[in-house]
Amino acid sequence: MRQKIVAGNWKMNKNLDEAKELIKGIKKEVQAGLEDGTRVIIAPCFVNLHYAAKKTKKSTIEVAAQNMHQANSGAYTGEVSADMLTNLGVNIVILGHSERREYFGETDELLAQKVDAALENKLEVVFCFGELLEDRKSGNHFKVVENQLKKALFHLQEADFKNIILAYEPVWAIGTGETASPEQAQEIHAFVRELLTKKYGVETANAISILYGGSVKPANAKEIFSKPDVDGGLIGGAALKAEDFAAIIKSI
Ligand code: 13P
Repeated sequence: MRQKIVAGNWKMNKNLDEAKELIKGIKKEVQAGLEDGTRVIIAPCFVNLHYAAKKTKKSTIEVAAQNMHQANSGAYTGEVSADMLTNLGVNIVILGHSERREYFGETDELLAQKVDAALENKLEVVFCFGELLEDRKSGNHFKVVENQLKKALFHLQEADFKNIILAYEPVWAIGTGETASPEQAQEIHAFVRELLTKKYGVETANAISILYGGSVKPANAKEIFSKPDVDGGLIGGAALKAEDFAAIIKSI
């Protein structure tokens, strides 16, 4: 069954004191009956995951990490493993975000390893993909998206996709205030579902949730979410305010 999902990627924002406030605010809004069966996920930074997981344990809010290392343990200074996350009660990880690709050199090949490690450790993966502005301008966006998905995910078995959520995030729309039009989002989402149908069959393709991310805010969420192949959103800036995040959840 395809799920409606709204996830907040807090990126490198909110210290513990601020995270406490934001979680309190989101809990209040979500408990006030806004979610309507929609999965609500928040992704604070590593150091606040323990607190977030504990504080949301009895609520319907789920907690995700923004990254993890592909090895189970070892001499990787500064890194965090899948096991460390699940041990905290964090069962979801965002992988492939364009900021990880751009600033930390994460390649599709590395992401394939991270996806494998996450799935082996029973984590659910929110896998991000999306083209750069120059790809879209040159009309290469379909090819770029196809390559990203093929290289990082198409070695998986059909059953693995039960634990994958996809997030289309065109890089030119992230944090820029410029959103892909609902039609542009729908076009890519439908294209991705078609790729999945060809490789894994229509059942898998229809069961997977594909989120849109890139300057989603209360004012544009409803229109984007109204598209048939858009199953929710991965929200950056607007997830940092409880009221805005709640308004976006309500738009689904
Ligand atoms: P913005 O909503 O701030 O554009 O960020 C989107 C994003 O990158 C979510 O992962």
